[in-house]
Amino acid sequence: METLIYDYIVVGSGIAGLTAARVLSDYGRTCVLTKSILKEGATHYAQGGIAVAMQPDDSPQFHLNDTLLAGDGLCNEYAVRILVEEGPKWVRELIELGAQFDKVGDHFHFTQEAAHHKRRILHAGDATGREIEKTLGNTILREDKVQFFPQTSLTQLLINEGHCVGCIAQHKGKPVRFIGKAVVLSTGGCGQIFSHNTNPPVATGDGIALAYQAGCAVQDMEFTQFHPTTLYLGDPHPASLFLISEAVRGEGAILRNCHGDRFMTDYHAEAELAPRDVVARAIFDQMNKTQTPHVYLDLEKVKQNPTERFPTIYKRCKEANIDITRDFIPVAPAAHYFMGGIQTDTWGLTTIPALYAIGEVACLGLHGANRLASNSLLDGLVFGHRAARHASEHQTHLAVPPRPLLASFEQGLADSERARVLASKQSIRELMWAHVGILRHQEGLLCAQKGLKELEWLTHSHSENETLLEVKNMWQVATLMTEFALTRTESRGSHLRSDFPIRDDLYWKRHLSKTKESTDGL
Ligand code: SIN
Repeated sequence: METLIYDYIVVGSGIAGLTAARVLSDYGRTCVLTKSILKEGATHYAQGGIAVAMQPDDSPQFHLNDTLLAGDGLCNEYAVRILVEEGPKWVRELIELGAQFDKVGDHFHFTQEAAHHKRRILHAGDATGREIEKTLGNTILREDKVQFFPQTSLTQLLINEGHCVGCIAQHKGKPVRFIGKAVVLSTGGCGQIFSHNTNPPVATGDGIALAYQAGCAVQDMEFTQFHPTTLYLGDPHPASLFLISEAVRGEGAILRNCHGDRFMTDYHAEAELAPRDVVARAIFDQMNKTQTPHVYLDLEKVKQNPTERFPTIYKRCKEANIDITRDFIPVAPAAHYFMGGIQTDTWGLTTIPALYAIGEVACLGLHGANRLASNSLLDGLVFGHRAARHASEHQTHLAVPPRPLLASFEQGLADSERARVLASKQSIRELMWAHVGILRHQEGLLCAQKGLKELEWLTHSHSENETLLEVKNMWQVATLMTEFALTRTESRGSHLRSDFPIRDDLYWKRHLSKTKESTDGL
């Protein structure tokens, strides 16, 4: 097997990974491995914006208060303070690097999103992630200090005497051993384990599954955020599940049920701008009550011209014959963001020395039980910087481990086995949506657990086939998520149990975590 030696290995190319790679490249030879092409990650599709307290009437303390409130009692306040206090500095740097955020005259335009009590969302139209990724990507390419490996899937983390010393990845179908002083995982989330999700196809939970297999602790695996509004065009329809940004409601859009009635005022004092979990749940409730697979978003009260303010959404809806300047948009919730993940400290360090995790793959309790809208880009930026700083200062030793045993590298999968793997993938996605989705209860969770157990055969195969490896990762994450969701017998944030509908601070104001060998609270 080919071996490549770098100082720092970053896996994933969203905002967190690109930020870390750029900083690390000042300290040593740095590479970025990315499963698809450079831009194919959740950052690219982030519409709403980046939350940052930069307005004169705002402050990090206000931003902290909103984040804690949305997190429903489970945020790590120390981590939130770091986020809101360090965020403005790194956003200013992004602007200096050339990121073009919307302005009104000479001033930046800050949009409104749910559960923010100030207008603090800096945005580039409705394609903010794309602008940030372009800025960081162009800067890194111009500086020419980072080597990129596209089409490169992580398959194993290399741990030697308790330390992470590198990883194995399949680069264009061949295994390559990457050795480095530190590995930084920024592989994103796992929305693809749900049949209804807003995530790109690469979001299959690989980083979480492989870190867990390597011995890392995972935390808060029961908390998946469901975005209230994705385009609904019938199941299955290729344009369904396209995100209709929360900023649309922030700018005045109203939710209506199939009878045309506004309903959010019945659920929360802040109506359409209630925290995301509340809105998703209210929509779900209305869909059940009216036996309709969607509700509607009405943009009549949006003051700005929707074609100018939301050009991407306008275009995608137009392609589906919906004119957002006139028509209601049919919308339904879908899995969107994962608050759980690989347990880290506030430097991104996991429970395995020299292994870091940042962005959506990581869990430091920052988002608690429900992430505040548009805090995720800021998370990637701030903790990308911190992980890079820590790794550059503390990971100074390169240990080349003995060659791994790889007796045979079998990429192929017989047609019949491939069909079985793909059918299993579909089963995982359907089980998770049906039983570990917006509304959970013991009976359904046990049903998901039983269904997943029947698919355990996936883990017995030793083929290195990429499709199989990906589905194994999905199975691993789905299994952990179901176990955590069964354990938390209360409702909090995005975790709603119809059999335990009350938030129970006395017993459950705590995080659950687990390694392969031990559990904490499970
Ligand atoms: C959105 O634009 O609604 C998504 C923003 C986010 O998930 O934070």
